Amino acid sequence: MKTSSPEPIFYSVPGVTLTIPVYTGHNLFNKLKSLFSFDTFSSVLVLVDENVNKYWDKKILEVLGKDTFYLVIKAAEKNKSLTTVEKIWTSLSQNRLDRRSLVINIGGGMACDIGAFAASTFMRGIPFVNVPTTLLAQADAAIGGKTGFNFNGLKNTIGTFASPLAIISDTAFLTTLPQREFNSGFAEIIKHAIIADAQLFADLGKKKLTNLKGKELDKILSQSTQIKCDIVKKDPYEKSDRKKLNFGHTVGHAIEMACKNKLLHGEAVAIGMIAEARVSFLSGHLSENKFRDIEKLLSNANLPIQITATNKKLIFEKMLSDKKNVSQQIKWVFLEDIGKVMVDVVLPTEIINEGLNYILK
Ligand code: GLY
Repeated sequence: MKTSSPEPIFYSVPGVTLTIPVYTGHNLFNKLKSLFSFDTFSSVLVLVDENVNKYWDKKILEVLGKDTFYLVIKAAEKNKSLTTVEKIWTSLSQNRLDRRSLVINIGGGMACDIGAFAASTFMRGIPFVNVPTTLLAQADAAIGGKTGFNFNGLKNTIGTFASPLAIISDTAFLTTLPQREFNSGFAEIIKHAIIADAQLFADLGKKKLTNLKGKELDKILSQSTQIKCDIVKKDPYEKSDRKKLNFGHTVGHAIEMACKNKLLHGEAVAIGMIAEARVSFLSGHLSENKFRDIEKLLSNANLPIQITATNKKLIFEKMLSDKKNVSQQIKWVFLEDIGKVMVDVVLPTEIINEGLNYILK
């Protein structure tokens, strides 16, 4: 069936004469070549993560054609490493990609982040397009120009800000996504609602999030994309407003690393959001009812809200290494209400301890 392309949502970066279209919708990948200037590149390398490749290899070949270089990388957070970056650089180099070449990253947050990093550093930066295939990457990771990989036991410590030519979020890819991964992606959508849109938060509370599909899912993803693009547009380099997007991530990243990546990113962020909402409540800002609403929504999305047997000291240590800190002071994203956020908040250690005690079973 032939359908027209949906209207993209745009964001722009000051000082860069570029607006980045973010397309969301079902079966968009089929139209990829018509969504940006595909035919103008001297050569194309498509980087695909192994999970996506398992189900979509034929489709990718059908859409992109045989003349495209193809590189499959391992999925999973533990492979978001310098070793994988080197593999990508090697392939770019051996296949003689140049500054008029293009990289297309197809996969989850890990593939988009690391593929974008490799492209943004190869020959001082060649163009790339992100095709996020997990809900998490579609809602968050692939949008906004953050690229990078994990280093020295810390999340995304090495990276660049680099803008893709386009972001194409095709919800057809979600049909082969495991349920646990789908739920994990919803954590970022819920985060967008909590930090910026009380109405969306209320709407999500009325839905069975784990079963969402079709037009309903496309609509929510598009609303979530709009929130992220609006924030990135205002503050692309995370000097102020963009810090809001780190809600749940101060504790979330620390948990992810302390648990050696046994939790999916969205799962760790869900627990992180509980801890960070809890400290917002304990400091007398967020009301108890709103705190309970957040807890309920995350539970309804089948996301964990506590962890067992985790080393609290290690979580603290990891939090102290967070990129957002200044002079070893942890900078919190703090909720005053649903949709109302303060950034760069410094909290007393006792309150942080209480917040962490709440999430540790
Ligand atoms: N994932 C948070 C951001 O893009 O700023």
